[in-house]
This record gives sequence, C-alpha cells and structure tokens, in this order.
Amino acid sequence: MKVIVTGGAGFIGSAFVRMAIGETDMHVVNLDKLTYAGNLENLTSIEKDPRYRFVEGDICDAALVDSLMAEEKPDAMVHFAAESHVDRSILSPEPVIQTNLRGTFTLLEGARKHRLKRFVHVSTDEVYGSLEAPLEADENYPLNPSSPYSASKAGSDLLARSYFVTYKMPVLITRASNNYGPYHFPEKLIPLMISNALEDRPLPVYGDGQQVRDWLYVDDHCRGILAVLRGGREGQIYNIGGNRSLPNLDVVHKVLAITGKPESLIQYVTDRPGHDRRYALSSEKLMRETSWRPLMDFETGLGRTIDWYRTNSAWVARVRSGAYRTYYEKNYGNREAVSS
Ligand code: NAD
Ligand code: TYD
Repeated sequence: MKVIVTGGAGFIGSAFVRMAIGETDMHVVNLDKLTYAGNLENLTSIEKDPRYRFVEGDICDAALVDSLMAEEKPDAMVHFAAESHVDRSILSPEPVIQTNLRGTFTLLEGARKHRLKRFVHVSTDEVYGSLEAPLEADENYPLNPSSPYSASKAGSDLLARSYFVTYKMPVLITRASNNYGPYHFPEKLIPLMISNALEDRPLPVYGDGQQVRDWLYVDDHCRGILAVLRGGREGQIYNIGGNRSLPNLDVVHKVLAITGKPESLIQYVTDRPGHDRRYALSSEKLMRETSWRPLMDFETGLGRTIDWYRTNSAWVARVRSGAYRTYYEKNYGNREAVSS
C-alpha cells in the first residue's frame, strides 16, 4: 500500500510515519509545509528508507496536490496536516481557517479527481466541546466546538463526511483525545510542563487547573489510525481515546514528581478564553470493530516521555529558540500570575 501522509513532520504525523515505515511494508510519501511545528529531525531514523519520500509543500496548493497524486498514484491518504494549537488559534485564527478548512478541501478535491481508494481524516475529540461529568461522547454526539481550532476541525470533519455522502468517496474520520509522547512540540500542556520543569522555569497552569483531558499515548493513537486505515468502514467516524481522564493539575503534579522538581514551580495564571472544562469520549466502537486497544499506561508513558525530553535536550533547545520565544512572550507575557 502506498500512502500520502500529510503533516508527517509534526508530532503525531512523524510517529505515524516512523511506525508505518518501521513496522509495516507501506510506502509513505510525506507532504508537509514545515511550519514552526514541522521538523525533519523527527524523521531521521527512517529518512533513508527506500519506501519513504518527503515532499515539502502546502496542502492548500491544489496544483501541487494534483501533480503529486498523478505522479505517485497512492492507494490512500492519511491527513494529519493542521494548525493544531488552541492557544495559537486564539491569538491568530486565520491560519487554522486556511490550513484546516481550505487545506482539507484541497486534499478532498485531489482525492476525488484521482479516485483515491481511502481517505483517513485525522480529527479530535475537541469537536464535541466541553462535556459535563459523567457524560462521554460517542461518535453520534453533537458537535459543539469552542475555539477557532476546534471549530475549524469540526468544519473539516463535516466537509470530509460530505464527500462520502455526496460523492461516495471512501472517507473515514478519526477523533482522538489529547496525545502525549516524544517529539511533542513544547507548546502543549505535557511537553511544555516537562521542558519548563527540567529547566526550573515556572509551570503556567491556566485558571484553577481542574480542567479534565483524556490522555492517549501517541503510538496508541497511531495504531488506532492504522486499524481504521486497514479495517474501518467507509463513511464512519471512530473515536480513539486513552481511557485515562485526569485534571490538568494532577498531570502537572505527576510531571513534578517524576522530574524531582518542587511544587513551588507551579504558577496559576489567567485562564484561556473559552476554555473547555472537560473532554471525554468513548472508543467502544473502534474496540468493537477492530482488535485495537490503548496499551500504554499513563504513568509509564509519562515516564518514557520525560526520559525522552531529558535525553533530547538539544532537540528541545533548537525548537525553543527563535520564533518560539516570540510566541511564548505573546501567549504567556500578558497572562497575570494569579497566585503561585
Ligand atoms: P503538529 O502541530 O505537531 O504538526 C502539524 C504538521 O502539519 C506539521 O508538520 C506542519 O508543518 C504541518 N502543516 C501545517 N500546515 C500545513 C500545510 N498548510 N500544508 C502542509 N503541512 C502543514 O500537530 P499534531 O499534534 O501532530 O496533530 C496532527 C493532527 O492530529 C492534527 O490534524 C490535529 O488536529 C490532530 N489531533 C491532534 C491531537 C493532539 O493531542 N496533538 C489530538 C487529536 C487530534
Ligand atoms: P493543550 O495541550 O493546549 O491541549 P487542548 O487545549 O487542545 O486540550 O492544553 C491541555 C490542557 O492544559 C488545557 O486544559 C489547557 C491547559 N494548559 C495549561 O493549563 N497551561 C498551559 O501552558 C497549556 C499549554 C495548557
């Protein structure tokens, strides 16, 4: 099977490419624009493999998508490429609209023209919005996104589904919970807290820190996507969760315990606008239809992730230089320290 992977230089996309090349016989063409979040260092372990090709380019570039599909004649596409961060989408919504909506549309059109046999659209549980405990979203739960990021993902999900309904295109949609693991850009909660803790910097907790997320180890997510790619039913949506819900503050305490750093590093700061209180989803459908299960226990996965950040301090230093500092100042500089 030959697969075009979009966004394969990012956090989850690169884990998927490493898995597809390392553990299957797939051929992978990675189409990635190399935004601030795309990093070819994430792929050095497989970059020389004859089954792998990298193409630098924008998923919004219809001519490029068309010529790549004509040239490569892929069997499938797994679409990860996105502007993926809620805080950045709040500071500047335009890129999420462009890449997540326009880009997904461009790929769907390319897939339609070239009669692609399988299109897996990678989405998120954030499209369901905030759920009161003890509710869990199944795939039929109404969409109720809160941020420009999650609204753009919900829009692209609906567009992808419309290509199945209208054009009978073989579209499948996955919605995963919060991922964590190695190579995670240090703007999201877990990698930010780990890299700040390792450098004895303050850990900025939004609001009261009691917001709940379900945590999924990135390789469990990638195995779930492989299961959907191989065995999912066309036109279906599949939730992929880690079955491990935790308030943010508990996650931060675990990071401090494993890194051996003091609680005094925690700094409560002004909350994120429109902050979703709780995400929760059921992966019952994927488990019923395939042999997929989330395998990584959270404490083990977090320990491994922290070890990776300790060992890869040069990777962290490189991605935290330059434009990252400007972003950090913009996002955190205006946040008042509520207490510490
Ligand atoms: P990421 O930000 O780490 O990586 C995104 C990748 O897409 C980067 O390599 C970037 O260069 C590339 N990209 C961005 N715009 C592009 C464009 N216009 N053309 C081509 N490439 C472009 O993201 P991630 O965390 O790996 O997330 C991947 C996907 O998984 C996204 O669709 C996201 O919505 C979804 N998702 C993420 C999570 C999570 O916890 N991170 C959870 C569920 C779903
Ligand atoms: P994040 O990793 O941005 O993922 P998402 O908002 O897409 O779920 O944030 C996870 C949770 O952590 C969310 O409730 C916001 C919170 N958070 C902080 O408290 N401080 C931070 O510096 C960041 C980045 C997130």
